[in-house]
Amino acid sequence: MDTLLADLAAVAGAEHVLTDPGVTAGYTTDWTRRYHGPARCVVRPAGTDEVAGVIRAAARHRTPVVPQGGNTGLVGGGVPARDGVAPVVLSCRRLLRLDPVDTLAAQVTAGAGVTIGGLHEHVARAGLEYGVDLAARDSATVGGTIATNAGGIRTVRYGGTRAQLLGVEAVLADGSVISRLGGVQTDNSGYELGQLLAGSEGTLGVITAARLRLWPAEPPAVTVLAGVSGIEAAAALQAEIRARVPGIRAAEYFEAPGVALVRAHAGLPRPLAREYPAYLLTEAGGRDHNAEIFTERMVAIPALDEASVALDPPGRAALWAYRERHTEAIGAAGIPHKLDVALPVTQLPAFRAALDAVTGDAKAIVFGHIGVGNVHVNVLGPEPGDNSVDEAVLGLAAAHGGTISAEHGIGHAKAALLHLSRSRAEIAAMRAVKSALDPAGLLNPGVLLAV
Ligand code: FAD
Ligand code: MLT
Ligand code: ZN
Repeated sequence: MDTLLADLAAVAGAEHVLTDPGVTAGYTTDWTRRYHGPARCVVRPAGTDEVAGVIRAAARHRTPVVPQGGNTGLVGGGVPARDGVAPVVLSCRRLLRLDPVDTLAAQVTAGAGVTIGGLHEHVARAGLEYGVDLAARDSATVGGTIATNAGGIRTVRYGGTRAQLLGVEAVLADGSVISRLGGVQTDNSGYELGQLLAGSEGTLGVITAARLRLWPAEPPAVTVLAGVSGIEAAAALQAEIRARVPGIRAAEYFEAPGVALVRAHAGLPRPLAREYPAYLLTEAGGRDHNAEIFTERMVAIPALDEASVALDPPGRAALWAYRERHTEAIGAAGIPHKLDVALPVTQLPAFRAALDAVTGDAKAIVFGHIGVGNVHVNVLGPEPGDNSVDEAVLGLAAAHGGTISAEHGIGHAKAALLHLSRSRAEIAAMRAVKSALDPAGLLNPGVLLAV
């Protein structure tokens, strides 16, 4: 065994240092299969001290570290790069601390490896809910969602992951541990390092646990799937629904080509009596709200052409399947170029109108969290290594005042295009932070900031 592996085994136990390619393959290839690269090994530490030991050992051996959670990320940030020094993949999945819910403060402390689905179940038993939810809930972790500042289907209601974060525990590149898990809600004593780590994509530290804000549970009361003529109509309809109906928990958009893929993949019937160019899925809820009032108000909206209304969990799940199964249906059809942009809502129609010319003959599936201006453009056809469509779509978003990442992050995928969203001065400031906290470039080199 080489000395790096021996040092890692001394920290985490030999059985948690994985080198068999058959076993490590699931850690070295991303969910989309577009990004993969060789690793020296995968190490699975079980606690914060072990994470610190792994970081120190890797630093001694000048070997980069790629932190990884559930490996559901969509921008290649959680797997080794194809080129360069083969890194240690530090899997956080054994960081499974899950404290009792603090019902007085409506907070909980969770380990980085706890899945979002596991967190939901845990806090539901206390009558509370966590504000972030996404279709990858059964694999995506607390640490990974903080590191990417994940959004998802509840962002329109509660904001993204940053808005849920009260503090983190993390191991920095020098092996030191920072910890703010006390749950103080208003703390103005200097730089908020937890918020800095949110969205840092594993480049500034390894998050080992977090203190998270919770909300009173608000069971969904009604889910409505409406057929619309396109993104402009969907944006107008969701604005009207939001104005009339309190407690909107989701406002999701998708189009006919995506529905066709989902139907073929999952064997589902047509969602509405006739086919529409596009669809808006809206969900409202609330403890004190009456589903019938919601329904009455929603279906009374004149712009609603045809809609399916679900009031019970099986009915809601049936409507959600058309939206939530997009990712797997697209993945089953090929290796997609996943482009996650957000625009000012007023710019959505112009962006959508220009998109078809940019994607050309390739198949473009458009869907997303329209309630927060977030559009996912998935392009099937171009070779995985061909970035021209990525550059064209992201450039189009930037030209319409948008960002090249709403929620998935930058990863390896968009590091060279960060300048489309961030000014020179901003990128210089980010580089200064990176080199102050990680002068040797140990953590996730090439992710977020191109090397
Ligand atoms: P990973 O994929 O393992 O890692 C992601 C990044 O975080 C990498 O850069 C990695 O280095 C870093 N990282 C991971 N753990 C740590 C840690 N403990 N400390 C420091 N850095 C760390 N995303 C959304 O935002 N909204 C959605 O609605 C959404 N839906 C999805 C649906 C599906 C079906 C799939 C497959 C993905 C979806 N995603 C979505 C993308 C993905 O789930 C998120 O990016 C998620 O936050 C990744 O979490 P993870 O635990 O899988 O992290
Ligand atoms: C979603 O909203 O479904 C996710 O962000 C995943 C994806 O973009 O495929
Ligand atoms: Zn999304």
